[in-house]
Amino acid sequence: MQQDMIVVIDLGSERTTTLARDLRALGVYSEIHPHDLTADALAALPNVRGFVLALGPNRAYEGQILEPSEAILGAGVPLLSVDDDADGAPDLRTFALTTCKAQPNWSVENFIADQVELVRRQVGDKKVLLALSGGVDSSVVAALLIRAIGPQLTCVHVNHGLLRKGEPEQVVQVFGKELKANLIYVDATDRFLDKLAGVADPEAKRKTIGAEFIRVFEEEARKLDGIAFLAQGTIYPDIIESGTKTAKTVKSHHNVGGLPPDLRFELVEPLKMLFKDEVRACGVALGLPENMVYRQPFPGPGLGVRCLGAITRDRLEALRASDAILREEFDRAGLRGKVWQYFTIVPDVRSVGVRDGARAFEWPCIIRAVNTVDAMTATVERLPWDLMERLTGRITHEVPGINRVLFDLTPKPVGTIEWE
Ligand code: XMP
Repeated sequence: MQQDMIVVIDLGSERTTTLARDLRALGVYSEIHPHDLTADALAALPNVRGFVLALGPNRAYEGQILEPSEAILGAGVPLLSVDDDADGAPDLRTFALTTCKAQPNWSVENFIADQVELVRRQVGDKKVLLALSGGVDSSVVAALLIRAIGPQLTCVHVNHGLLRKGEPEQVVQVFGKELKANLIYVDATDRFLDKLAGVADPEAKRKTIGAEFIRVFEEEARKLDGIAFLAQGTIYPDIIESGTKTAKTVKSHHNVGGLPPDLRFELVEPLKMLFKDEVRACGVALGLPENMVYRQPFPGPGLGVRCLGAITRDRLEALRASDAILREEFDRAGLRGKVWQYFTIVPDVRSVGVRDGARAFEWPCIIRAVNTVDAMTATVERLPWDLMERLTGRITHEVPGINRVLFDLTPKPVGTIEWE
């Protein structure tokens, strides 16, 4: 059942990811491995039909020219050298399909079938725990594990009170009700907001949220008996190091941040070989709702980094309500799939306005809508004027505490995407 594979070997190229993605686009499964791949590591890779030797500007490393290992050269399958400096695109199609005779059998359906098998083999009759945030990656992991080992999986959804409107409800509906997962829903809103009271520094806020999240999750984990595995939504970009300077393509480990030693479970990471678009396709194939799978990126600390300064409940509610209106209006304007990320921000300053003939001393709401490829740089979406007017009208009339709407036109750099 396992698919054929072409292995991309990192010899200092800056295009290893592109090569692997291009091979997968041909329907041939591909992974990236370091130049010093050992015979044992190679033996663990099923159905290797060929190697693409990805040469590039970082091939000289610490005074040595990187060479492919004996295991690679002696594997007895075709090799194709691709140099970043060479003109023209390599003919991966001819190499993969004709020279290597690799079967183009890489598909999401085959991937799911394989992973279901592999997870069942790894887990046996033991129990698995998953922190289900409701984000794309953890949701797809949950759906896959429900299919593979349903009753052996327990999902914990910690609502830290900083989620968008409707998100915790959707997690409960989709996973608890429709997919019938063992779902533990923890409403820790009060606990988080109490901890965050008066914490104004952005880094301190992030640390408080992160540490409290681990604590709540840990408490839930301790209440459960016989958990042997922890599932994680690790995806391929998480384990491919950015850049190739060290020529160590794959990070040696990625552990579960913050859990105490007596809660170190073995990991189950069924998506760790997938790129983000493949994760989404997998989610759709597993029957998850489209708005869950194609959701825009949302930071771990959630609305906490958009409720600037020390978070207060009333301002947080104003933020959540304005974000919901923004999403609704973007949907209506057909911008949902077009704009990469859009959200509102509510700072802790107030300005004078007038409402119903009386002085209104209220907060502004800032709207930010940006496009980017990799989140390292970003440009601002040019919104239609009538949409901006409608947003302004709705937010100032429907959201208690907001008397102005501002639009952030700052690209990254110099602004970051988030304000904190
Ligand atoms: P910045 O603000 O650094 O954001 O330009 C780049 C992208 O990263 C997201 N972001 C985060 N994601 N945890 C996350 O999971 C975080 O702490 C975090 N901070 C920023 C941000 O939403 C944007 O997409």
